[in-house]
Amino acid sequence: MSDTVTTANLAAVLPSAGSDLVIQERAIPSPGPDEVLIRNHAIAVNPIDWKRQVLGLFIASYPTILGSDVSGVVEAVGFAVSSFKKGDRVLACAPVTVTGNPDHAAFQTYTVMPTSTVAKIPDALDFTQAATLPTSVGAATIALFDIFDLPLPPLATSTSNSTSTTTPAPPVGILVWSGASSVGKTTIQLARLAGLQVFASASPRHHAGLRALGAAEVVDYRPPSAVNDLVAAAERAGSVEIRYAVDPISSDETLPLVLDVLSRVNNKRTGNGNGTTKLAHLGRWPERVALPEGIEAVFVRGTAIWTERRDSAAGVFNELLSAWLEAGEVVPQTVRVVEGGLGGLQTALNRLKKGVSGEKLVVEL
Ligand SMILES: NC(=O)c1ccc[n+]([C@@H]2O[C@H](COP(=O)([O-])OP(=O)(O)OC[C@H]3O[C@@H](n4cnc5c(N)ncnc54)[C@H](OP(=O)(O)O)[C@@H]3O)[C@@H](O)[C@H]2O)c1
Repeated sequence: MSDTVTTANLAAVLPSAGSDLVIQERAIPSPGPDEVLIRNHAIAVNPIDWKRQVLGLFIASYPTILGSDVSGVVEAVGFAVSSFKKGDRVLACAPVTVTGNPDHAAFQTYTVMPTSTVAKIPDALDFTQAATLPTSVGAATIALFDIFDLPLPPLATSTSNSTSTTTPAPPVGILVWSGASSVGKTTIQLARLAGLQVFASASPRHHAGLRALGAAEVVDYRPPSAVNDLVAAAERAGSVEIRYAVDPISSDETLPLVLDVLSRVNNKRTGNGNGTTKLAHLGRWPERVALPEGIEAVFVRGTAIWTERRDSAAGVFNELLSAWLEAGEVVPQTVRVVEGGLGGLQTALNRLKKGVSGEKLVVEL
């Protein structure tokens, strides 16, 4: 680390299991060889943050620091880093759930990040918007490019502005349940870029927005007709084979509906399907839900972006995501700013725990 960092590092520290966050000063961390130090300007909260606070998930000892999603400016780089430099504007996903190291957590002024989950952001994108993306990009990357084993979209074609040129024939479909969730919105965008025809469910007020992100059809998930409506949508689209599905909620309420759509669409479909449909679920599989034959269900272990799937994560974060953002192919989530800077994070977690609809809670530093 060659540059001197002068500003203090304030952190929203979790002192013990279930307690509220408290603001404390701690040392500014130094980046390891393949890491960058980021001066955070915006921090977004994710459901995993309040779950960790309340349930102690991925926490070996206290005090600790929570948080995954930041955007800011690179303040210093490790000696092996050549792709980022001091002054770069970036977004990044913090690996504290894997390393357990509080230096790798988002809820503070400075965070050390492995370069594989850092992306440069265009000047037109402000920090508040950029912070809405990292965890959802990581989760969508694991679902699409690991579990479904889709190839990473090539840069040249992925930044062309037409979806029809990248959709294979016959079209292959993906069902994104809970399309208005953060994971859902990013999955819709990356699935479109991967050439899939996207079917989604969401509350009606989000339908137009999800179509703008690339969903071919969106239906309301709440009425009893939801499954029929999605089956009809697939038929309207020309008996599309829905070979993939992503369920961010993965409850015993959502999964039976997702499984029903997959079974019915693919039983009705005429054409040359090649067998198994894959379902990526972001929550643990509920014991009460039976898995029908012909559907393979795989848990999305998002932390794989720092372990086994580090290479695919780097492919997306270091190259594709920056280009997609620049070209407007991927857009940020809808932001709701929570006032108070680091001191607003506890309020943001409390609000997120109660539930949000189609928006990302962000604090600004
Ligand atoms: N396994 C992993 O690695 C991993 C990674 C990231 C996230 N996750 C998990 O994925 C889940 C989603 O995270 P997120 O950040 O995307 O959540 P989020 O943005 O907070 O999700 C909010 C959305 O959920 C939708 N929703 C709630 N209940 C629903 C239901 N019964 N059916 C359909 N949609 C429903 C709402 O849709 P409407 O507004 O349309 O009503 C709302 O917009 C969380 O449980 C999170 O912990 C797991």
